[in-house]
Amino acid sequence: MSDALVLITGGAGFIGSNLVDALLAKGYAVRVLDNLSTGKRSNLPLDNPRLQLLEGDVADAALVARAAVGATAVVHLAAVASVQASVDDPVSTHQSNFVGSLNVCEAMRQAGVKRVVFASSAAVYGNNGEDDSIDEQTAKAPLTPYASDKLASEHYFDFYRRQHGLEPVIFRFFNIFGPRQDPSSPYSGVISIFSERAQKGLPIAVFGDGEQTRDFMYVGDLVAVLVQAVEMAEAPLGAINVGWNRTTTLKQLLQALSEIIGSLPAVSYTEPRSGDIRHSRANNQRLAASFTLPEPTPLKVGLEKLLNQ
Ligand code: NAD
Ligand code: UD1
Repeated sequence: MSDALVLITGGAGFIGSNLVDALLAKGYAVRVLDNLSTGKRSNLPLDNPRLQLLEGDVADAALVARAAVGATAVVHLAAVASVQASVDDPVSTHQSNFVGSLNVCEAMRQAGVKRVVFASSAAVYGNNGEDDSIDEQTAKAPLTPYASDKLASEHYFDFYRRQHGLEPVIFRFFNIFGPRQDPSSPYSGVISIFSERAQKGLPIAVFGDGEQTRDFMYVGDLVAVLVQAVEMAEAPLGAINVGWNRTTTLKQLLQALSEIIGSLPAVSYTEPRSGDIRHSRANNQRLAASFTLPEPTPLKVGLEKLLNQ
């Protein structure tokens, strides 16, 4: 596969830039399309001649069409990743989170690119998980514009598969964490916020009682799966959960951080966020059936890597 070109939308972001490093290390050429809204140039090894950064918006159809030319595969990660941002501003997040996906479909059709890896989300299940793990057949109950845009995007990728022979690999990521997850906004991923605040001794706010659960996966483990999805001969049909079938409450997360750092700043408990999901845990049998999974990075090991980045 050496020298084959992979287009990564959102490649300057947290997950994207970790994938960029892995693909460059494997000999690929990589083109990143990113509007640098949450992504950063400093996440990318821009001195590598096999890396190209196109600064722009996935909502710009003509730009996405140009970006797809010459690619052998696309990994579509560009989106406003914050669920809460979509609740506050459904119109503008829809441009990134849905129109961007449709533009990727159309650009690939025009350029004759087949393989696309799409970052959908566990958010499509809404609160259907209860305490049990969620499999892919679980009823979809999107509670937010973010989740609705992800689910609609999945359907469009499937339409382009049937109609135009696209080969989508649709992943429903559960909660990913690790180095380069940007902690700077109140909408950032909880682990990035708690880790930064714990390290700096700043007070931590838990929305709700702290008993809500998430299935946290270290970004290096996810990247191992994403690379296989780019390279595998045949794209598996239907969406695939990406998680470890392992849950952690926010209280347990805080406990793990305090064991690593030695102490914790003040923690307050406030109202839960509207649209927030109570429990989230992946049944990952489909994932395990189609991919060679790495040993799960234990939460504390991943947290240490994040704190030492
Ligand atoms: P991130 O914010 O670090 O990455 C998103 C990237 O997309 C950023 O670089 C941002 O600048 C870029 N971007 C946003 N809107 C854009 C637009 N309109 N045009 C071009 N670029 C744009 O977040 P992440 O955690 O790395 O998320 C990557 C993808 O994975 C997203 O699609 C997100 O919805 C999805 N996802 C993430 C998680 C998680 O736990 N982190 C879980 C489920 C799904
Ligand atoms: C996350 C991802 C989303 C993805 C989904 C899949 C981010 C920003 N969000 O959403 O893209 O689709 O997983 O499962 O990466 N919390 C606090 N205090 C804080 C911040 C958060 O208590 O300062 C709580 C939230 O209310 C929530 C939990 O922590 O209960 C997790 O929040 P968050 O990290 O934003 O993730 P999700 O909403 O699960």
